[in-house]
Amino acid sequence: MQRKSPKKVLPLSKVYALLESGPVVLLTTANKKGANTMPMSWHTMMEFEPPYVGCIISDRNYSFNILKSTKECVISIPTKELLKKVVACGNTSGRDTNKFKTFGLTVATASAVKAPLIDECYVNLECKVIDTKLVKKYGFFVLEVIKAWIDSKNKMPQTIHHQGKGEFMVAGKIIKTSSKKK
Ligand SMILES: Cc1cc2nc3c(=O)[nH]c(=O)nc-3n(C[C@H](O)[C@H](O)[C@H](O)COP(=O)(O)O)c2cc1C
Repeated sequence: MQRKSPKKVLPLSKVYALLESGPVVLLTTANKKGANTMPMSWHTMMEFEPPYVGCIISDRNYSFNILKSTKECVISIPTKELLKKVVACGNTSGRDTNKFKTFGLTVATASAVKAPLIDECYVNLECKVIDTKLVKKYGFFVLEVIKAWIDSKNKMPQTIHHQGKGEFMVAGKIIKTSSKKK
């Protein structure tokens, strides 16, 4: 017979914070008015190679229409040193703020998309939107990474992982196992 679970019921409103723990990234887009960036934690890998990434962008964000129309972006992975700037980018909108100038983020030219790379970030991924079928219903964009840049000197990138309500976990210890899977 199965026993009653000793665990407490968790309100459904708290579930997102348990599962969104991939690194917080900055999603940068560009149009005629210039470049803009926003933090994003609702993303998921979908294929090894070519790398496909699924991500949810709310249509309330300025970035939404730019991504939808230009069909390209850069995903940059910040480390804990950038946490304050990342949060500031999430509390402002590109509609009325030049976030790069205001928060002191350095842009660099990408090779295959108009949106810029962010120098201070440990990784920059140039992406094209390859599927918009679920955008209308869920704000879900499927991206293909077409070029990837990394700061190879950073051997222990302390990426930041959103826990909900302004709390973040910082990546730490790596444990190696004998798994042969990717
Ligand atoms: C840690 C963090 C994670 C976020 N993740 C997402 C996300 O996955 N999708 C989304 O649409 N908004 C997300 N946001 C909210 C946007 O970053 C925020 O609304 C931002 O101001 C939008 O900027 P924009 O109007 O310039 O596009 C997140 C914010 C923070 C602080």
